[in-house]
Amino acid sequence: MKFKERVFSGMQPTGSLHLGNYLGAMLKWIDLQKTHECIYCVVDLHAITVWQEPGELRHAIRQVTAAYIAAGLDPEKSILFNQSQVSAHAELAWVFNCVARLGWLNRMTQFKEKAGKDRENASVGLYAYPNLMAADILAYRATHVPVGDDQKQHLELARDIAQKFNNDFAESIRTAGYEDGQFFPQPEPVIVGPATRVMSLRDGSRKMSKSEPSDLSRINLTDDDDTIAKKIRKAKTDPEALPSEIEGLAGRPEADNLVGIYAALAGSGKADVLSEFGGRQFSEFKPALADLCVARLGPIAQEARRLMADPAEIDRVLVDGANRARIIAEPILGEVKDVIGLIRAAS
Ligand code: AMP
Ligand code: TRP
Repeated sequence: MKFKERVFSGMQPTGSLHLGNYLGAMLKWIDLQKTHECIYCVVDLHAITVWQEPGELRHAIRQVTAAYIAAGLDPEKSILFNQSQVSAHAELAWVFNCVARLGWLNRMTQFKEKAGKDRENASVGLYAYPNLMAADILAYRATHVPVGDDQKQHLELARDIAQKFNNDFAESIRTAGYEDGQFFPQPEPVIVGPATRVMSLRDGSRKMSKSEPSDLSRINLTDDDDTIAKKIRKAKTDPEALPSEIEGLAGRPEADNLVGIYAALAGSGKADVLSEFGGRQFSEFKPALADLCVARLGPIAQEARRLMADPAEIDRVLVDGANRARIIAEPILGEVKDVIGLIRAAS
């Protein structure tokens, strides 16, 4: 089967969104709307793999939605919804729990990081998390998945699950009319651009993340102008001037990170940034970066705040998105049930 090109991606509603989310994922989500049918999901079921205070979770679901709309995601054009409203995700995840192998999940580095030392005490959901992610994508037979670099391994697992499902039920899939045996596509990661892995501002060897205790390590999409400028001023750097060539960034993770951030915000490449700033000191580069950051993020934060003043409208957008998502996912889930031998009401 020739699969129609379709984009799917998800973002967890935990904590506030930061520059890593914006540059690693959001910018591409917004860009792909121009060329593709896009489905974007606030993955609330993924968020509860770690305990969330219910009031804060509700707030975060709306806040992530508002941030996306503020950043340029068009809910009329693309489908924007929260995962728990479309039950096909959880149902297909159960099927995939029975397709994926323990050995596959044991290799997931994100589980090891998130579970930490006390693995016995991690939720079963945290362990099975990548199966739910595969279900998110394959419930729509999505072909392209824009994410940051840290999701690469989860996407490989989604591809393995798609392939194993196609193999395990090959005969039944052919009987169902799929002559080439391809029931699910192999979803491709879209990990491109100068900032697929934005690093902490305090430590160039760690990823910028919501869970890092120091708030100085990240720029939040809700930070005001002065806070953004202060965090960039305090960002860790080395004493050298910026190099003129990309090769000169090797072994200088902090410099590499700031140049990558500048390039992504400016919509250019690292080489362009270095041709402008090569030979200059951080004392000159940092104020330019701060200005660019404020110019890009300030209006988004402001618009998101405006949208948050009307939560009922945000909820309406999510309900509308879920209704449209269900129209795509439910027939596919129905076919999955047929293929694996479950009985359902005739449609
Ligand atoms: P999460 O907040 O973990 O749900 O991540 C949402 C999206 O942001 C995913 O596509 C991640 O890969 C991406 N992302 C998160 N942190 C970073 C980072 N530091 N650099 C680049 N992309 C990131
Ligand atoms: N696991 C992703 C993250 O933590 C979020 C996610 C859930 C996702 N389901 C997805 C991303 C499906 C892409 C496609 O960032």
